[in-house]
Amino acid sequence: VKENIELFDFSADFEPKDEENADFVSVVIPVYKEEANIPLVVREVSKVLEAGKYSYELILVDDNSQDGSVEQLKKLQQEGLPVCMIVRKNQRGLSSAVIEGFKRAKGSVLVCMDADLSHPPKTLPELIKAVLEEQADFAIGSRYVEGAAIEKDSSIFRRLSGKIARLMALPFTKAKDPVSGFFALKKQTFLSSAYLNPIGSKIGLELIVKCGCRNIKEIPIFFSDRKSGSSKLNFKEQLRYIQHIKRLFDYKYGNLAKFFQFCIVGATGAVVDLTSYNIFMSFMPIETARIIAIITAMTWNFEMNRRFTFSYGKHRHWLKQYFGFVCCCSIGAVVNWFVSMSLSRNFEFWSEHLTLAAAVGILCGTLFNFLLNRFWVYRK
Ligand code: GDD
Repeated sequence: VKENIELFDFSADFEPKDEENADFVSVVIPVYKEEANIPLVVREVSKVLEAGKYSYELILVDDNSQDGSVEQLKKLQQEGLPVCMIVRKNQRGLSSAVIEGFKRAKGSVLVCMDADLSHPPKTLPELIKAVLEEQADFAIGSRYVEGAAIEKDSSIFRRLSGKIARLMALPFTKAKDPVSGFFALKKQTFLSSAYLNPIGSKIGLELIVKCGCRNIKEIPIFFSDRKSGSSKLNFKEQLRYIQHIKRLFDYKYGNLAKFFQFCIVGATGAVVDLTSYNIFMSFMPIETARIIAIITAMTWNFEMNRRFTFSYGKHRHWLKQYFGFVCCCSIGAVVNWFVSMSLSRNFEFWSEHLTLAAAVGILCGTLFNFLLNRFWVYRK
C-alpha cells in the first residue's frame, strides 16, 4: 500500500483461481464525489456481469471525495458484492486514477467506465467479447458509430469540445470515439504499454497510442446524460487535453513533432514581428522600429520554444540560453542567405525563380536553426 493510498479491499475469497484467471474481468471506475451514483453503478454492473456468468471485480478509484462514498462502498461490500475501493489522498485526475486501478486489477480483461451511468452497463459483455474472443486490441463503447446515440440534452459546449477533441486525436487513430471513457483491453496489452503519463481525462487515447493498439473495435452505445452529481469536465480539463495531445505528438513523431512545433512558434513570431513593427513605427524611425520588432519577435520565439517546444531544457540559465538562441538564429539567417544566393547565382533554373530559391533558403535556414536549438541550446 503506497503512502498516499488507502485501500478498502474485499475479502480474499474473491481472489480468482488460476484456471479462472483467463476470463476474469476487472471493471475500474474512477469516482470523484459520486456518492449517489456508486450504489447504482455497482449494482447495475454486477447484475449484468452475473447474468453473463463472468468472474469479476469492481475497483472504484476515489480521490478522497469525503462525501460518503466510502460508507456507500462498505454497504455494498456487506451485501457481498465484489467491489473494492482505492482512495488516493493527495492526487487528483481521472486518467491517473484509472491507471492506478488497472495496476491493481487482477483480471485478464480490464474495463474502464464512468460512475454516472452515462455508459450503459448492458454493453459490457460485447466489449469483453471483443477483446477476449475477437482479438481486438482495444474495444470502445462508442458514441459515434452507426447505431450509437447521445441523449439530446448534451450542451452545445460539450458537443463542440467533443468534436474538437476527436479532430485532435485524428493523427493517432482512425477510431471514431477515441476519447470515450468506456473501453476494454487485455491486461497483457496494458502491461505492454510504453511509459504512461497522461494528464487530464483521455486515458483511452493514451492507451491506444502507448500500447500500439491497431485492431480497434467500436461498439455503439446510447450515451445518457448523468442523472445526479455534476461533470468534472471544465475549461482547465480542455487545456490539459491540448497538453496531452502535445505529449502524444512528441511520443509518436519525435523530432518531426518538435520541428512542427518549432515552425508553429516561428509563424507566431512572424505575427509578433509585424504587429510590433506597426506599433513601433508609429512613434519612431522605421530603422529603429524594425530592429526593436525583430528583437521582440526573437525574444517571443525564444520564450515560446523554452516553454513549449523544448520545455525539457527549461532548467538552463535563462540569459545564457537566450544568447545561444540568438546566435543560432543568426547562423540560421546566414545559412538561409548562403543557400538562396548560391542557388540564384550558380544555376540557371534558380536564377529564373528567385522567390523559390529564397524559399529553399528559408527552409534550410529553419532546419539548421532547429537542429542547433534542439541539440545544443535547449539540450536536456
Ligand atoms: N478518481 C477520480 N479523480 N475520478 C474522477 C476525476 C478525478 O479527478 N474526475 C472525474 N472522475 C470520474 C467521475 O466521477 C466519473 O465517474 C468519471 O470520472 C467521468 O467524469 P465526468 O466528470 O462525469 O466526465 P464527463 O462525463 O464530463 O466526461 C466523460 O466523457 C468524456 C468524453 O466526452 C468521461 O467519460 C471522459 O473520460 C470522456 O473523455
